Amino acid sequence: MNPRLDRRGFLVLGGLSLAAAACGGDAKPGAPAPVPVAPTDPAVAAAEAGRLAPGRKPVAVRLKAAPVTLDLAGREVQTWAYGDGAGTTEIRAKKGDLLEATLVNDLPAESTIHWHGITIRNDMDGVSPVTQAPVMPGDSFTYRFALEHPGTYWYHPHIGLQADRGLYGPLIIEDPDDATGAETEFVIVLDDWLDGLGTTPDEVLTALNPALSGHAGHAMTPDATMTPGHVMTPAPPSSAATALVSGAHGNSTPLGGMGGHIAYPLHLVNGRPPADRPTFTARAGAKIRLRIINAAAETPYRFAVGGHKLTVTHADGFPVEPVEADALVLGMGERYDVLLTPKSGAWPIMAAAEGKAGYAAAILRSSSSASAPSVGSRPTELDGRLLSYADLVPEGSARLADRAPARDYRVELIGGTDRYVWGLAGADAAALRAVEGERIRITMRNSTPMWHPMHLHGHTFAIPGGARKDTVNILPGQDLAIEFDADNPGPWMFHCHNAYHFEAGMTANLTYVRA
Ligand code: C2O
Ligand code: CU
Repeated sequence: MNPRLDRRGFLVLGGLSLAAAACGGDAKPGAPAPVPVAPTDPAVAAAEAGRLAPGRKPVAVRLKAAPVTLDLAGREVQTWAYGDGAGTTEIRAKKGDLLEATLVNDLPAESTIHWHGITIRNDMDGVSPVTQAPVMPGDSFTYRFALEHPGTYWYHPHIGLQADRGLYGPLIIEDPDDATGAETEFVIVLDDWLDGLGTTPDEVLTALNPALSGHAGHAMTPDATMTPGHVMTPAPPSSAATALVSGAHGNSTPLGGMGGHIAYPLHLVNGRPPADRPTFTARAGAKIRLRIINAAAETPYRFAVGGHKLTVTHADGFPVEPVEADALVLGMGERYDVLLTPKSGAWPIMAAAEGKAGYAAAILRSSSSASAPSVGSRPTELDGRLLSYADLVPEGSARLADRAPARDYRVELIGGTDRYVWGLAGADAAALRAVEGERIRITMRNSTPMWHPMHLHGHTFAIPGGARKDTVNILPGQDLAIEFDADNPGPWMFHCHNAYHFEAGMTANLTYVRA
């Protein structure tokens, strides 16, 4: 039978009803239905109150989302972006600042901005229809929120597959008490690219599964009006889209299975493909910091710098005890901060698509006379010691105190065996609830043959071993428990950050309820 999205947004597949976008039913018959805490609840503003440092001027930025033509090393692509590059509009502020970011929507589609990883006030989380109405074409919306934790974050729309176009960017929150001692820093945003190269993300979704295409959040055609939940008839996928999803199923050992389904034609560092790779220039012997963000929709990356070891200091913005590695694997949505001290020369930076062909590249240069490494020169460090989650020990301030969970949930990650559908299953998946102040544990079981980068909005949870993260890779067959304190009221999404898995149903809501 064909999967379909019913009116309330539940993905219905072979009799299983998976929580897609709405809240589930209630456990005990006869018990009064718990009262959810809405984005407009005074508790949301109350949680925000403690986050602002007094006496600061707000940091105001304007993000115009619009169709643009980009030049990717000589290939012109039509896409959508903020500003004039893919992922190049950096927002930088300090811990305790108030960010005032105005989204000006010049797209031919509704949009929002989600601030990935931020312990944000719920009504600014940018998830339509959960936390706000979508920002319609021609409208604007100002996101106004305090930045509680320093670190490396990013932003992207939370509608359809818009983030697989050029709509994303880094959000860097500086720490006034930064202890890394870094003299310079570089932000490295990684992205997989297909938009405008004969196809679009929406066409690729249609090629993966025609039954999934055309629901809310996609581009409006001039003669169609879009209302939430309105289903448009999809065009058949182009041959370019079909080609990208046929037979592109490479395996990854660290990720325990298939790396992904889509053979992206290009991979970018800060909006630039390998043929136009950026150069980061630093003084030999200086201590430098790299903030690495995987903003890709469907590609994990293995990252290394030729000739250098990396000292990892932060995972998803939160500090860890410094630990050395040759290479890092970043799932979609994950970030790491690393320190290194450049040796004199010009060194290849490579983010190899993990379990897929292709790579993104850059140069680290600390000598003007050294000749550039050849494009595609693969640092041997990529095959050296990989960072694992077991290496991540939270720095004291980042440690979540031990506490027995008040709620202990189980969620199963499932996938279709004969078609491209994904979901979160089990009774708990449709009824993830928290009362403010409680410790929550969610144990995920991955019953699929593929890894999933699971992301929770509004909280930074602890993974086994204690490091704090907001996005965690779960390998095929693995059970993994995350824990967090319910200290940020409102409805929050909990989903796979593979953008196509998300579109195919791998999402649930965490709902705060009144005690
Ligand atoms: Cu970057 Cu719902 O996520
Ligand atoms: Cu997934």
